[in-house]
Amino acid sequence: MITGTGHAVPKRVFRNEEFVGIGIDTSDEWIRDRTGIRQRHIAGEGETLTSISAEASLKAMAVAGVTAAELDMIIVGTCSPDRLLPSAAAELQAALGATRAVAFDVGAACSGWLYGMQVAEGMMAAGNAETILVVGAELLSRIVNWKDRNTCVLFGDGAGATIVKRSTKQRGILSTYMRSDGALANLLYRPKGGAAEPMTQQILDEGSHLVSMQGRDVFKNAVRSMADAVDRALDGAKLSANDIDLLIPHQANVRIIEATAKHASVSMDKVFVNVDRFGNTSAASIPIALDEAIAQGRVKEGTIVMFVAFGAGFTWGSMVERF
Ligand code: COA
Repeated sequence: MITGTGHAVPKRVFRNEEFVGIGIDTSDEWIRDRTGIRQRHIAGEGETLTSISAEASLKAMAVAGVTAAELDMIIVGTCSPDRLLPSAAAELQAALGATRAVAFDVGAACSGWLYGMQVAEGMMAAGNAETILVVGAELLSRIVNWKDRNTCVLFGDGAGATIVKRSTKQRGILSTYMRSDGALANLLYRPKGGAAEPMTQQILDEGSHLVSMQGRDVFKNAVRSMADAVDRALDGAKLSANDIDLLIPHQANVRIIEATAKHASVSMDKVFVNVDRFGNTSAASIPIALDEAIAQGRVKEGTIVMFVAFGAGFTWGSMVERF
């Protein structure tokens, strides 16, 4: 069960209107109509994935009353680590001084935090850990193509952290579900610059090491997969839509969120939305939203929350938790 949450974002706010100033042929109206996004946070000099992850983690640890020395495990969901080696989790471990913790990343793009939570649950069930820090964090501004209007307007930077302890009878996870479909990988990926085709000057010049996306196909798959995840979440928890107090979906696009809520028969007043202020922060979006929902008093003891995620891979899944 989740006993503490925290989030952190870079200081710089980048509003839709600012894209025109950097030569992108777009408008605030287009971005808001298609996505619901008004602004996002963008990392500046000195801000790293590790620095915002550590800031979010320290907040979550303070809420949960957990010290760095008490962490048994650190799991980071990210697709934009500070370095390709070692893991983001190892760098976070060093920043926190969590010397006892086992640290590793989960590579599931926007589903990273949700996958990480389910790995954490399994680790606890197997008796491998008692206190786990699960983080979703991204600096997508460093891996998107700032010349490609199809992608650069969608994403933002941020980190969300959660402290997880063993569930009790009254509180904790009621259902979990994870799926993947690697056959659709090239609809949303970074084509080159990895081990298959290591970085060259040509790759750098053409920008093929940056995020490339077929937006329409991704949209359709996101709606379909999140609907599947909603059905499985309710079946698994033996609940109906009426039992859900709050739906916290991955914050990619308000139209995808609305389609998911409609499929779930959950009215929009029971859906948490902050994509307007943060853009799509991939693995960070759900834990940031959860932290804000708790701060706003929308999640209290006894509240039943359904989480639903979808991301590159493709990866998707869901989780129902009673707080
Ligand atoms: N500003 C203005 N025009 C833009 C634009 C932008 N930022 N980005 C794309 N366009 C243009 C396209 O070039 C296209 O022009 P064309 O018809 O002359 O070729 C036109 O807008 C329509 O493009 P289309 O892709 O059909 O728009 P859409 O309604 O599907 O909306 C997305 C585009 C990206 C907003 C939408 O497909 C989407 O949200 N997809 C899912 C993306 C996502 O969430 N990814 C992460 C998943 S975790």
